[in-house]
Amino acid sequence: MTKETARRCIGVFDSGFGGLTVLRSLRQKLPGADYLYLGDTARLPYGSKSAETVTRYTAAAVRVLAERGAEVVVIACNTASALALPNLAGRFKVPLVGVIQPGAAAAAYATKAQSVGPVLVLATEATVASHAYAAACAVHGLAAFEKACPLLVPLVEEGWTSHDVTRQVTQIYLQEALQQMRAEHGQNAMPSAILLGCTHYPLLRSLLEQEAARLMPGIPLVDSADATAEHVLRLAPCGIDETGNLAFLATDSTEKFARLGARFLGEAIIHVERIDLDR
Ligand code: DGL
Repeated sequence: MTKETARRCIGVFDSGFGGLTVLRSLRQKLPGADYLYLGDTARLPYGSKSAETVTRYTAAAVRVLAERGAEVVVIACNTASALALPNLAGRFKVPLVGVIQPGAAAAAYATKAQSVGPVLVLATEATVASHAYAAACAVHGLAAFEKACPLLVPLVEEGWTSHDVTRQVTQIYLQEALQQMRAEHGQNAMPSAILLGCTHYPLLRSLLEQEAARLMPGIPLVDSADATAEHVLRLAPCGIDETGNLAFLATDSTEKFARLGARFLGEAIIHVERIDLDR
């Protein structure tokens, strides 16, 4: 095995379960890597916290993953990528990969054949307030309209991914987003893409697609999971001759992590180790 194709350990961090949607994409593209996933379930949500707090929590998580052998750490949480990553650059020996730039790149790719309307970014309150997506979209010459959807994370956490209540909430957010976007960009404005700027939202993809099709027909929905996995593939190529190992760490109930996490990951989670990040 050459150095380039040796087995790597990739750390994946999220405030909770949502980053498992990114891990799922990583596993599809890099099945030969070992993965160590850390979900800070005890302190979720990050989406309503300050940049200072999110940075402190994220730094602690990266430290643990690096200590346990991760050679690259994927910050699979949009809020942590937006608020903490800019403050953590150069503080660790391991490279850190966020999801914001890959997400914006995916939106740019999807909008190629579309109109020139802004990218509609759906995200947590903290991600929206940071305007990290607006900055990342601007790099691709795209405008962004960022809409906070704070009720979606707890609904997904509750497992209500196709519940009528979630459908109604989704409908309201999309209606509001379109209205507010048109107030800013003109009465006939349509988004060029809808970007799921939170790792929980891919679980609502089918519901969001249905509701968006009614209000904004033909607008592509994109998320950063696949684009992030592509980025990691370039950074840490791995042998793909055998499937790597999966290990999970959580800061709260391991039973709940295994039960809820399986839905995000798309496969059973057998063992979860509980750790404390407040040390
Ligand atoms: N993982 C977070 C994100 O992608 C959502 C959950 C939270 O608020 O902690 O923004």
